[in-house]
This record gives sequence, C-alpha cells and structure tokens, in this order.
Amino acid sequence: MSQHPDASGAGSDSPNLDFAGTTPYEDYVQADVLTHLQHPVSDDPGEMVFLVTTQVMELWFTVIVHEWETASRALREDRVPVAVDALKRSVRELEALNASWTPLGQLTPAQFNSYRSALGDGSGFQSAMYRRMEFLLGEKSASMLVPHRGAPRVHAELEKALQEPSLYDEVLGLLARRGLPVPASALNRDLTQKYEPSEAVEGIWAGVYAEPDQNGEVIRLGEALTDVAELVWRWRNDHLVATRRAMGSKTGTGGSAGVAWLEKRAQKNVFPELWTARSHV
Ligand code: HEM
Repeated sequence: MSQHPDASGAGSDSPNLDFAGTTPYEDYVQADVLTHLQHPVSDDPGEMVFLVTTQVMELWFTVIVHEWETASRALREDRVPVAVDALKRSVRELEALNASWTPLGQLTPAQFNSYRSALGDGSGFQSAMYRRMEFLLGEKSASMLVPHRGAPRVHAELEKALQEPSLYDEVLGLLARRGLPVPASALNRDLTQKYEPSEAVEGIWAGVYAEPDQNGEVIRLGEALTDVAELVWRWRNDHLVATRRAMGSKTGTGGSAGVAWLEKRAQKNVFPELWTARSHV
C-alpha cells in the first residue's frame, strides 16, 4: 500500500502506518496483553515497580528454563557445543535477571510496608517457574508441588520436571559415555530426589580440570556450568540482601522465618562438585 506524506512526516522512506487489524508487532509481541497484566493491590505508587520487577523476573525465569532444557536435550544427544551455546546464553540472561534487582534493592521497611500487607499470603516461594529452575539445577523436592495442587497446568509441568533428569544428571550421563567413572549410584539415582554430591564425581572433575589439553570441550562445559552456578548463587544472595533491607527479621508473607530461611537457601552451592573439585586440581 502506498504511503502519502502527512503531518506526522510519513512518506515513502517512513514506516508503515496502515494496518487493517492489529499491527504485526502486536501480533508477535502481544504487548497489549503484556502491559495490561499489572493489577496492583494497594494504592501505594511504589507497588507498581515491585509487581513489574516480579513479572520481569518471571519472564527471565521462563527464558532461562528454556535454555537449560535446550542444553539438557543437547547433552543427551552428545551435542556439547549446542549445550554450551545455550548455557552461555543463559549466563547473559542471568546477568540481566540479576540486574533487575536494582529498583528493589534499597527498599526501606516503611516503603515495603506500604503494600506488604496487601500481598496477603502471596510470596515468590510460590513461583512455579523458579521451582523449575531449581529442579533443573538438581534441587528436586516433591513437596514443592503441593502449593500448586489447585493449578492443573502448572502442577503437570512441575510434576514432569520433577521426574525428568536435571541438567546436571545429563552432564553426568555425558561424562559416563565419555568413559569417565561416574558411579552407578549417581547414574541410576531416584531423579525425584535432590542430587547429593559424591567424592567420586568430585574426583572426576578434578581429573578433567587437571588435563586441560585433553579435556577442552568438557572444561568449556564445566566452566559454563560454573558461571551458571555463580550467577544463581548471586541471585539468591541479592534477594537475601534486598529482603534483609526491606523487612529485617520479620516472618515472610509465605509463612517462612524470612531472612533466616533465605540465608540457609543462599548458602547452598549449585553443582557443588564443580566447586569442591578445585581444591584437588
Ligand atoms: C524486596 C522485595 C522482596 C522481599 C522482601 C522478599 C521476601 C521473601 C521472603 C521472606 C521469602 C521466603 C518465603 C516467605 O516466607 O515468603 C521469599 C522467597 C522467594 N522470593 Fe522473594 N522477596 C522480594 C522480592 C522478590 C522478587 C522480586 C522475586 C522475583 C520473582 C522473588 C522471588 C522469590 C522466590 C523465588 C522465593 C523462593 C526462594 C526459594 O525457594 O529458595 N522475591 N522472598
């Protein structure tokens, strides 16, 4: 369709203005849906950024789960470079996720109190997409499905994620296929349980890292996993510090002890053998 110059400056070198229905941008991005999903529960002007930051983080969780599922599949098919590419994308995304703490990082208790009671029993603890991230990292727990009993789609997705191998299970499978002595107890473990580190696997990583000339590809994989582990640990700690500033040692809206509970979660190392092995290289 031809364009005619008008007061807005549209001409043959200007963007199209004329669409029969919704714009192709809208059809792809669904920005109208996305920007009308903000329903604050208080009159406090500061609540909007709390709600949107939480929504933005949910979107990043979704992208990161997608990358780690891509990486898991690639590892199962012995396509290590594809897995490393997906993990590296997730590292950049984790950086962006962590940067989104900025608007909430310095909330005072009075500012947070302005909308906190309106949140009722709502808590990030009930985030199903965060739980899928944790499951992919090997932090499995059937009891984490309980809050989602009333939401069939969410529950089914979490149940599937609970049963499936974690990203780290796929890594161990790959190491075993490459002839490394991964113990049967790690390969045939009950996938619905939390992964427990072993000295045998720690020894494998120490051996891999000690011979960089022979193990380039596996070391690249190990380093991408270590980057992921570090950034997840940073997310947990940034969350902990933001919480400490916003509410001190009060109990959480989700019913936990709050900061004391988060401290224990934040202490955990992701992919522990990739850290402990470093003492033995
Ligand atoms: C400064 C604002 C925030 C405070 C004060 C806060 C506070 C808390 C507290 C006390 C808990 C422990 C569970 C409970 O009893 O509620 C928790 C858990 C959690 N929060 Fe937040 N939170 C904040 C912001 C966020 C944001 C923006 C997100 C993004 C989605 C988030 C995601 C989570 C997740 C995923 C958990 C569960 C962590 C786990 O299972 O280890 N929180 N939060």
